Amino acid sequence: MYNKPGDIMEKFKFELTHICKQTGARLGVIHTPHGSVETPMFMPVGTLATVKFVSPEELKEIGAQVVLSNTYHLWLRPGEDIVERAGGVQKFMNYNGPMLTDSGGFQVFSLSDARKIKEEGVTFKSHLNGDTLFLSPELSIQIQNKIGADMIMSFDECIPYPASYDYVKNSVERTLRWAKRGLDAHQRKEDQALFGIVQGGDYEDLRKHCAEELVKMDFPGYSIGGTSVGEDKETMTRMIQYSVKYLPENKPRYLMGVGAVNDILVAIENGIDMMDCVLPTRIARHGTLMTSEGRINIKRAIYKDDFRPLDPECDCECCRKYTRAYLNHLYRCNEGLGNRLMSIHNLRFLLRLTEQARQAIKEDRFGDFKKEILEKYAFDER
Ligand code: GUN
Ligand code: ZN
Repeated sequence: MYNKPGDIMEKFKFELTHICKQTGARLGVIHTPHGSVETPMFMPVGTLATVKFVSPEELKEIGAQVVLSNTYHLWLRPGEDIVERAGGVQKFMNYNGPMLTDSGGFQVFSLSDARKIKEEGVTFKSHLNGDTLFLSPELSIQIQNKIGADMIMSFDECIPYPASYDYVKNSVERTLRWAKRGLDAHQRKEDQALFGIVQGGDYEDLRKHCAEELVKMDFPGYSIGGTSVGEDKETMTRMIQYSVKYLPENKPRYLMGVGAVNDILVAIENGIDMMDCVLPTRIARHGTLMTSEGRINIKRAIYKDDFRPLDPECDCECCRKYTRAYLNHLYRCNEGLGNRLMSIHNLRFLLRLTEQARQAIKEDRFGDFKKEILEKYAFDER
């Protein structure tokens, strides 16, 4: 932390401090009104203004920097007015640090039924009670202005994969018009950084066009969307490269929805600064744990009398104080403490990975670091 949380800075600022001489990996600092954070970084997801089973104090303890939340979910419950009256999402959930909200663009497409996309916005059914709802670029930004996160996202269409060239082209054009409408509706430019989102599937000319048009609008940061939607790993790498290539060096780049170990390393290698994913916390609740040798499932009978720490290389509370046998027991009895410890461990695992990545970039050896990690870490699914 460069400035203390709560020190009000006038503006959001990204400082690029070093580029690895072995790869395109970048080291940087993002200054926000709620403190400064170091990149590249992984951001835990707190969809409903809570990272499931993990308290804000615990998030700080494991080295979390930015915490993510979701416009769509907070709009439905408790409603953006309540969050605003609480003093913004940071105060509401007592997270004294930078936060980011996604626009609802993705959630509307992944969670809800009976979607109808029109120029004006998207009509869809609530995943909670089936009510018909309507979200537009302007409304998404108005809600995010009330929620009050330090970084907010344009309302976009996350395109499924695969999709035809014509479909992607039309969708990208609409996402660009939506980005402009969101920018015009944005009322808190002085303390909330609005990011543009690059779409374009795996078509390089469409990614290029989308990136270049967004750059003309001069957003303080750029996201890369439409990845981790069923494409293979090589395709995802190309999507990242087709986007990064056309983005300015002096603005942060956020790859949305990526949290598998090999994907994180590939992203950093290609110049990505920020990532987020529900993956570590979601799989933790199913007993799947990331260790330095790959993923294990703690519910397996072999762990019943395994009295070693979960990951001897990890410094989290779960690994310092408890055994695999105990975690196996907690999981089998569906105890809340198990969910808490295993969520903390998986988050700490990815936060430590990105801490080590930053050190490796500083020392111009990110390529070696990536190879070392992947030689030990068994291939993981998304
Ligand atoms: N989260 C993961 N992918 C996406 C995307 O393409 N758009 C948005 N808004 N959020 C995402
Ligand atoms: Zn651990």
